[in-house]
Amino acid sequence: MSSKKEPHISTEILPSSKEGLFRAAQILNNGGLVAFPTETVYGLGADATNSGAIERIYKAKGRPHNNPLIIHAYDTNVAKHFAKMDKQAAILAKSFWPGPLTLVLKQNTKVSIRISDRALSRLQTVAIRIPIHPVARRILSLCNNPIAAPSANISGKLSTTRFEDVLGNMFGKIDAIVDGGPCPIGLESTIAKIEDGIFSILRPGTITEEEIASKIGKKGHTRKILEKKITSPGQLKSHYRPETPIRLNITDPRDDELLLAFGPLPNGIKGLTLSEISDPDEAAMNLYSALADLDNLAKVTKSTSIAIHPIPRQGAGIAINDRLQRAAHKS
Ligand code: TXA
Ligand code: MG
Repeated sequence: MSSKKEPHISTEILPSSKEGLFRAAQILNNGGLVAFPTETVYGLGADATNSGAIERIYKAKGRPHNNPLIIHAYDTNVAKHFAKMDKQAAILAKSFWPGPLTLVLKQNTKVSIRISDRALSRLQTVAIRIPIHPVARRILSLCNNPIAAPSANISGKLSTTRFEDVLGNMFGKIDAIVDGGPCPIGLESTIAKIEDGIFSILRPGTITEEEIASKIGKKGHTRKILEKKITSPGQLKSHYRPETPIRLNITDPRDDELLLAFGPLPNGIKGLTLSEISDPDEAAMNLYSALADLDNLAKVTKSTSIAIHPIPRQGAGIAINDRLQRAAHKS
């Protein structure tokens, strides 16, 4: 089978009703692929113990096999079946789970749940996330096994935070998509790794380094120290990209550009705002959907690029700047 021309799969569109979510879990339990909302972004789920299903995730996304998947579990008790939780991990789990924090932990070798090696790219560690979104939780509660779920987008492109964006990326490639409305946080989870009692942030998110440090009482290494050795492809310089080039920290866009504003959209300028009131959390929620809309608008208006206002590096602003830098990076 050629990897370029995959056969078209018929994709069920499921409501987030009791019946819809029951069907979603049934498909996942049978080795199928289902996209569903989490509080951060839409995930593309498959049974984490089923190598065939995992392989289909990589195919549907066009994702390189050296990029491991986050394993989603219903709660900490389930996570303990396949990961070792040290004292620090237990504190963070208690503080932030369920919620938008992914913990990279050592695998539990005396496993009672065997996560497929294909999902873990031969690492000794496993990234675990316990989402809080009610749709994700309901699905996880109905599934027989943990669910591997990368973001529901074509590899390297914008993550999806709306049902219609998932449709655009995944229709015809996966078995079902749950329509659960927009994702309330809008940026992928913070990824923290704990090793020898020290944490490192592998990917910033809306749970900040300071919040994590305040719980475990030690300031962890930042990403800068880890950058030489990439352990998370979320750290790759070019990622999360729209098709239209973007220019960062622009206050005066050119006439042939669209503007992504932080604060009110100036009069007479074509574009969108991330947050009328300059609120970093609202901006995070709107980031991927605004970039998707501007990408489409740029094609129609034949705009050369998307200019983006400076966004303060505070709170969610740190993670927003991280994603924008990767989106702007020319590979
Ligand atoms: O918010 C999220 O985390 C979303 C939702 C769907 O849960 N998921 C998500 O998955 O963003 P994905 O695959 O798009 O990004 C996961 C990142 C990748 O950069 C991957 O390399 C990293 O997590 N990762 C996975 N396992 C890892 C591990 N054992 N060590 C280091 N990084 C790991
Ligand atoms: Mg992703």
